[in-house]
Amino acid sequence: MFPYIGGKSSHAKWISPYIPSDISTYVEVFGGAMWLYFQSDKTPVKTNIYNDWNRHLANIFKCSIDTDHHREVLESYICDIGNEDMFNEYRDEIFTIYDGEFHMPDYPLAAKYMLCQLQTFSGNTNFRENSKIYRSPDPKHKFVSYTEKFSKDKFTTKLKQLTVENLDCRDLIHVYDDKDTFFYIDPPYYNMESYYTADAFGHDDHIELLELLKTTKARWALSYYHFDDLEKVLPRDEYLWHEQETFSTNARVSTAKRTELLIMNYRPPSLESLFE
Ligand SMILES: C[S@@+](CC[C@H](N)C(=O)[O-])C[C@H]1O[C@@H](n2cnc3c(N)ncnc32)[C@H](O)[C@@H]1O
Repeated sequence: MFPYIGGKSSHAKWISPYIPSDISTYVEVFGGAMWLYFQSDKTPVKTNIYNDWNRHLANIFKCSIDTDHHREVLESYICDIGNEDMFNEYRDEIFTIYDGEFHMPDYPLAAKYMLCQLQTFSGNTNFRENSKIYRSPDPKHKFVSYTEKFSKDKFTTKLKQLTVENLDCRDLIHVYDDKDTFFYIDPPYYNMESYYTADAFGHDDHIELLELLKTTKARWALSYYHFDDLEKVLPRDEYLWHEQETFSTNARVSTAKRTELLIMNYRPPSLESLFE
């Protein structure tokens, strides 16, 4: 619901039809900005889970559930847009406690994080310890657009139905694994993990996650780009592989055409008629 590296804003439309219709729990294991949940007409369902290992992102979504209070606090920071001193002060405050166990919800902290995040992002990097303020030429600032979302039914209805977790992906899967659960899994892409600050999700973590997915009762859909071990652990003749041509929005990698994968352990609704 805000610009985020690896966010699925431009992919949600083609992924959404693959979400099963008969689920009672929807889980975004690597929540980020949770674009699929907000863009899909298949959600919300009975129980809706946001999770991210980055505690600041979890805090933002935890605050977002109280849409009115979060909006009021965000509005009180609009005056700091473009102020480099305040940007630096908030950035340093955030990174002092980056890996800490601070209490959630913390509304001022969420507002400061978003103010920094939305003044840093310029398409190819994420908010970091050494980020500098980026002054967008857009007539309407991203922080203002973000604040306004908390007055729009499209967002508030879904936000109010969220449960927020701040767990490692493997622990979260163990907690919510059930036959009526659907996991949407959008890990840091293989070899691109360093775009995120809060994690070091390396080769062994990717493989461990894939091995765990082979054991779940739940249905899941996994977004990835191709890498060699992927086919070995999730062979094409055992799992359903969908390949979608997309244009990368990551300026470091160029804007070349790429193939985005969606790998599933179930027969998606969009294909069901073919098997009848
Ligand atoms: C590709 S982004 C997800 C983007 C999201 N689908 C969206 O639409 O914005 C991956 C996310 O995984 C989170 N992450 C990294 N390691 C994690 C872990 N071990 N467990 C849970 N989340 C993790 C990162 O903080 C990052 O927000």
